[in-house]
Amino acid sequence: MSERTLLVTGGAGFIGSNFILQIAEQHPDWRIVNLDSLTYAGNLENLTQVEGSPNYTFVHGDICKEEDVERAFESCAGGGDVAVVHFAAESHVDRSILSGMPFVETNVKGTQVLLDSSRAKGVERFVHVSTDEVYGSLGATGLFHEGTPLAPNSPYSASKTASDLLVRAAHKTHGFPGLITRCSNNYGPYQFPEKLIPLLIANASEDKAIPVYGDGMQVRDWLYVRDHCEAILRVLTDGKDGEVYNIGGNNEYPNIEIVKMVLSILGKPESLITYVKDRPGHDRRYAIDASKIRDQLGWEPRHSFEQALPLTVRWYQSQDVWLQRVRSGEYRDYYQRQYGS
Ligand code: NAD
Ligand code: TYD
Repeated sequence: MSERTLLVTGGAGFIGSNFILQIAEQHPDWRIVNLDSLTYAGNLENLTQVEGSPNYTFVHGDICKEEDVERAFESCAGGGDVAVVHFAAESHVDRSILSGMPFVETNVKGTQVLLDSSRAKGVERFVHVSTDEVYGSLGATGLFHEGTPLAPNSPYSASKTASDLLVRAAHKTHGFPGLITRCSNNYGPYQFPEKLIPLLIANASEDKAIPVYGDGMQVRDWLYVRDHCEAILRVLTDGKDGEVYNIGGNNEYPNIEIVKMVLSILGKPESLITYVKDRPGHDRRYAIDASKIRDQLGWEPRHSFEQALPLTVRWYQSQDVWLQRVRSGEYRDYYQRQYGS
């Protein structure tokens, strides 16, 4: 493999940090530049394993600011071809319901700023990491495929849809080498405990109530984060410019079943389950047809839910210091201590 640098945005978040750790393991000769503004969701403590490596550089900056993106590209200089893997986003549906503007700012404006700079720099590839939520909600049957009409229902998914269309437009208008991935719900290490699975592990471990929205019968298609990262890498290396690739686990469960499974792994009682008011506009079911990436790029998930869910629960149990520092907010001091100002 020729010399290569990956400019990863949002690499201090859940999926981005897993991706960086995986690349550092599988391609130790690749350089990684991580551009992250460290919102509440960015945690540099996820990346202590690569910190100090000569092939890893952290750039504290905002994708909405051209000068910050420019600094990140400067850090890529001299490292061969540059490819961008774009994770940075506001990612939590519930927060987008409370306030949509940060989602428009980062997900829409930030993506356009990044696209413009990436085009000016002549990047080799640009993988835009998106979500199945752009397709809206399914009924009891059917699957999302790449041609399913876009019909987002939350400010989060609407802003991700807009960003997908900006990547598409850059390709159609300028021949820009953009590719889009749309993945289902991820689970695994380093997920911020506002999302269902880590929240439920954290609460149950402390015998706190587990909030289940509505009737708990909303269905999600769960994929282990390492499988998602493998799929992104496959799209980066073998995908075709301008294409969209759905990524999914073929692993559908209603929320209430997930909650019961995790409680059972933890040996905690179902009496912790507390039904609460439903999320407004709550999508009923997501399910992915991932046959395109399987048939064209040879990707399939390698982890079964039966294997990776207990693994994930055990990871959070073994990382009680990480979890406690996230929950108390102490993780936010790390950048200051490690990098100064
Ligand atoms: P996350 O919220 O855990 O992490 C987001 C990261 O982006 C954080 O490190 C944050 O500091 C950074 N960031 C936010 N705004 C920024 C800005 N303006 N400039 C620079 N950095 C900024 O998100 P995640 O769950 O890791 O998701 C990563 C990507 O994958 C997102 O684009 C999301 O839409 C997509 N996705 C997530 C899932 C999932 O289940 N989590 C599923 C499919 C797709
Ligand atoms: P979440 O992890 O927020 O992901 P998304 O909304 O992007 O799918 O939520 C997953 C599902 O779990 C979703 O249907 C909402 C539900 N949920 C709860 O029932 N209780 C909770 O406390 C949370 C955070 C989510």
